[in-house]
Amino acid sequence: MDNQDMPREQLGVCAEGNLHSVYLMFNAVDGEEAALRACVASVAQYIYELSDQYADSAFNGFIAIGANYWGTLYPEARPALLKPFPAMEAGSREAPAIEFDLFVHLRCDRFDILHLVANEVAQMLEDLVELVDEERGFRFMDSRDLTGFVDGTENPRGRHRQEVALVADGDPLFRGGSYVHVQKFAHDLGKWHRLAVKRQEDIIGRTKLDNIEYASADKPLTSHIKRVNLKDGDGNSLEILRQSMPFGSVKQQGLMFISVCHTPRHFELMLQSMIQGDGAGNHDHLLHFTKAMTGSSFFAPSLDFMASYGA
Ligand code: HEM
Repeated sequence: MDNQDMPREQLGVCAEGNLHSVYLMFNAVDGEEAALRACVASVAQYIYELSDQYADSAFNGFIAIGANYWGTLYPEARPALLKPFPAMEAGSREAPAIEFDLFVHLRCDRFDILHLVANEVAQMLEDLVELVDEERGFRFMDSRDLTGFVDGTENPRGRHRQEVALVADGDPLFRGGSYVHVQKFAHDLGKWHRLAVKRQEDIIGRTKLDNIEYASADKPLTSHIKRVNLKDGDGNSLEILRQSMPFGSVKQQGLMFISVCHTPRHFELMLQSMIQGDGAGNHDHLLHFTKAMTGSSFFAPSLDFMASYGA
């Protein structure tokens, strides 16, 4: 298949980082599926066009449909691997599933534009959905998580972002779409900041100030990097593209963790490795300082899929 046959991806899936973000989680009103299909296609197209209009501010976004709601909205076709969030727990570590029907992910380097568009999108969807959760994210320092560690360094770069994030030929109707997982992590920053910096670095597996990866032999088996850096049987890295950003207020703050990938499997294996560990008692010690408040599974289809089913 040449490039002309490539379905148009939603630009926010693989976009580079921004200064600001808005996350809107909606549940759908029963019985309005036909109207919502058309509206979802319009919202996606609107976001796509605004990416051009506000290119100077690097505006981008995507809309994704919840795994549990997919079959109601699009009963005729389903992404091959779409399934609910893989809830799990071990000891005091928990990854709960809190699902939503629709996820609108908006990002921009100007917060005023983002605010305007978020309102516009909510208005377009009015009467068809209920807004059930909303968060605003921001770039913290030089792209650091609120723990003070740079987040996103080992993300795929350049065209490799598309290779990692977008479904390819294997599932033709869903080419250019992406499996999306979202977890809202609330940090216990008081507890974290009481740790000596060296202890924090051992937990992440990188140095704090200058963001240097530990040598392989020095990475504790309980470090975050060790737990999520996984390989398949042939030694190939299992990759995801992370679109996470810090979010919140003084009351509750942390990381809005967002994974986009051509398969949901990589995220699930990483989460298992963090929570359940390696079978030898080594789980991710970052989880002693942060708690997943939500866990949601979505699929962000190509613009062409939504346009053809929303007509
Ligand atoms: C790497 C923070 C949750 C997957 C990192 C890094 C930091 C970080 C600081 C190192 C820099 C980088 O390469 O980006 C966090 C925080 C989390 C969190 C604060 C939650 C509160 C997760 C989850 C997953 C994940 C839930 C997947 C299930 C990864 C991956 C890497 C990474 C794949 C790159 C590893 C490598 O190849 O070196 N994370 N993370 N993270 N994280 Fe997380």
